[in-house]
Amino acid sequence: IQAEKSGYKHFMLKEIFEQPRAIRDTTLGRISLDTGKVYLSEMKITEDDFRNATKINIAACGTSWHAATAGKFMIERLARVPVEVDYASEYRYRDPIADPSALGLLITQSGETADTIAAQREMVAKGMKTIAICNVVGAMIAREAHGTIYTHAGPEIGVASTKAFTAQLVALFLFAVHLAQKRETISTEESSRLLESLSLLPGKVEEILRTVDSVCEQLAKTYSTARDFLFLGRGIHYPIALEGALKLKEISYIHAEGYPAGEMKHGPNALIDETLPVVVLATKDNDNRDSRLRYEKTLSNIQEVTARSGKVIAVAIEGDEEIKQLVDHVLYVPSAPELLLPVLEVVPLQLLAYHIAVRRGCDVDQPRNLAKSVTVE
Ligand code: G6P
Repeated sequence: IQAEKSGYKHFMLKEIFEQPRAIRDTTLGRISLDTGKVYLSEMKITEDDFRNATKINIAACGTSWHAATAGKFMIERLARVPVEVDYASEYRYRDPIADPSALGLLITQSGETADTIAAQREMVAKGMKTIAICNVVGAMIAREAHGTIYTHAGPEIGVASTKAFTAQLVALFLFAVHLAQKRETISTEESSRLLESLSLLPGKVEEILRTVDSVCEQLAKTYSTARDFLFLGRGIHYPIALEGALKLKEISYIHAEGYPAGEMKHGPNALIDETLPVVVLATKDNDNRDSRLRYEKTLSNIQEVTARSGKVIAVAIEGDEEIKQLVDHVLYVPSAPELLLPVLEVVPLQLLAYHIAVRRGCDVDQPRNLAKSVTVE
């Protein structure tokens, strides 16, 4: 077992550090920087299916559901198709309006999650075609799908998903650009620019691993005794806040909640006092007007927390000196286009959860009461 961990103390840490490779392998052979095109030839979905899709229905569980929720932003923004995201465990019980002209998308690391399989069967029964984003070759969901985009994250052993998640984000991004190209909602210049940025992600994640790991280890000393944590984000960063909270609660057993930053006034503000650490996703894509606006709004949310003596740990873009004045700690990540920032900003959240759990003496790779793959309803 020790050998399989290649010198890392836990599988989870090894898998966090494997993310540059997972991202690279998931991109490999699927993009051309010359043509600005995405190639997903493995899918048996016709050009017309892509062009005429009236809606995308995504179903997933756990961390994969967080990837799905971030994917909604990518697909709607680039391909201009409405996306609905369901917890797979809810989908078939809510009498969904399934339309054969909608495409079904199942996101799953294992490809064996019982609820996700059931959601897929429900979609197929209603005449929809389904696409899987799956990490395990030949898994049930991939076998039953009309097409599969495999994430090439490699085997994931830690119960808390890390590299499979970032690989899912990359696969969703490829899917979104591909769909946008088929629907002609993206220019060649824009797709070339985005794919170029995508290809730079592995190096940027390497940089985060080099610089932020020890910072998170330090922060864990201060915050491992906290009773609760809040994670805040807006837009595509909200699902990443949810994922940060999930990582922490899964492996450290600290109660944590993810919230859309703008909703703080409607409840969570009542929780803030000097004992509450609040992790805020405050990154910014300077070339994107919506992102700059989101950043400004997030800064005012930060001020709402600090005014009530809450402790703020911000995830921000390298070189952002302004934010340092406002918060207690900053975890820096390199810049990227808005839709790709989630891949970078989740890494510090994984490391923070990991180091806090280790300090608390928890069984990081096998948290109590949880399973890697939930094959019963
Ligand atoms: C379990 C795992 C999670 C995972 C979820 C969905 O709860 O502990 O890490 O996100 O199942 O699994 P899937 O294999 O469908 O992505």
